[in-house]
Amino acid sequence: MRYHTRPAASPLSGLIRVPGDKSISHRAVIFAAMAEGTSHLTGVLDSADVRSTMSAVSALGAAVEIVSESSEGSEGLEVVVHGWGADGPVEPIGAIDCGNSGTTIRLLLGVLAGWGIHAVLTGDESLCQRPMRRVTAPLAELGARVETAENGCAPVGIRGGELLATSFELPIASAQVKSALLLAGTRASGVTKVCEPAPSRDHTERMLPGFGIEVVREGLCASVSGPVIAQATDIAVPADPSSAAFLVGAALLVPGSDVTLPAVSLNPTRIGFLRVLARMGANLDITAGPDVCGEPTGDVRVRYTASLTGTTITAEEVPSLIDEVPLLAIVATAAVGTTEFQGVGELRVKESDRLTAIADAVNALSGGAAVTDDTLVVTGGHPLEGTTLDSLGDHRLAMSYAVAGLAAEGETVIDRFEAVDVSYPGFAGDLKALLESALG
Ligand code: S3P
Repeated sequence: MRYHTRPAASPLSGLIRVPGDKSISHRAVIFAAMAEGTSHLTGVLDSADVRSTMSAVSALGAAVEIVSESSEGSEGLEVVVHGWGADGPVEPIGAIDCGNSGTTIRLLLGVLAGWGIHAVLTGDESLCQRPMRRVTAPLAELGARVETAENGCAPVGIRGGELLATSFELPIASAQVKSALLLAGTRASGVTKVCEPAPSRDHTERMLPGFGIEVVREGLCASVSGPVIAQATDIAVPADPSSAAFLVGAALLVPGSDVTLPAVSLNPTRIGFLRVLARMGANLDITAGPDVCGEPTGDVRVRYTASLTGTTITAEEVPSLIDEVPLLAIVATAAVGTTEFQGVGELRVKESDRLTAIADAVNALSGGAAVTDDTLVVTGGHPLEGTTLDSLGDHRLAMSYAVAGLAAEGETVIDRFEAVDVSYPGFAGDLKALLESALG
């Protein structure tokens, strides 16, 4: 699908609840599938990625019942999951299709590592190009038999079995790898400890205790003691800060805008982008709300900011804003001076090579961007000019380009815009509603 956009003719204004958090929705469905008993989940993101997780756990024997569909895509799904508990998952018939979702495949590999069944996990063209050895190698160390395709990618075959707890020092900060190992650790005898070089998102550590699984956290390490079976619980999923980021970016760039995004997860491991934008001088107000699902939440109010200044984003900060780099790069085109993103090499192995793609897109829009090794530099002060861009089937690129199109002169056309369905199917509608000030 082609998306056409032009400079915003009016400000964005009003209040809108962005959909449920993708990372938390995946985990809610997966942990509920592993649990003994029936879990009741609300506010679950209704998107292609989460649908992939729901069908994958169904293929493994969990009963997933969608009790109510979202009316306008923003309130989320109400889902009841009857887990496999102590009986374990059943051997699936045929390969499990994880679609575009790295979280689905990597977390499920961890789940399956401790059960004596055979499964093959695969996905779409993008997922089958993403590295899986970062998770299969440590799972093999724990005792699972795992085999990737020759290039280290999916399809991945796994036969789980008896696991012996181990300690891991991860070479990269990856919440997917950390989570897979902690989930496998629930089946291993003894303490499985995972240490990472920088703090990646910690939803697994925050959520497992609700399912009756204790997680011990010390600095950059988390550990679980197994074997232990999860127990069903109820989960309310907060709104997704990564989806909110696109509306924040749009409001910052369009003169006169004033937008409020309520009940967003303000988990510190997820909102590095808000800290960076504040440093750049963005007009942001954050009002803390209640904790939801073990996550701090709150309302984010963002107003157009005429003068943003460039900043340096250090490698340490990157895991807390890893999915927001393309959007921040677009915002940086409007800032005075340069914005340097250090240590962003991981972007090359996301749903696309986001590092090359975002630099190419900024340059195609007549902005200034350059990549050297794992650093991206965006030079502000070059007014953007509309052009035709390809999302490469990557949802976060598609939405970042749509934000750029609101600020660029002339028309911007985005090919393969349907990629947004992976995380935020209602994005174009929500943006339009804010532009038409149709929300109070
Ligand atoms: C995710 C972790 C991150 C992130 C992805 C979702 C998760 O990936 O980029 O969109 O839900 O655990 P890595 O674990 O590869 O850093």
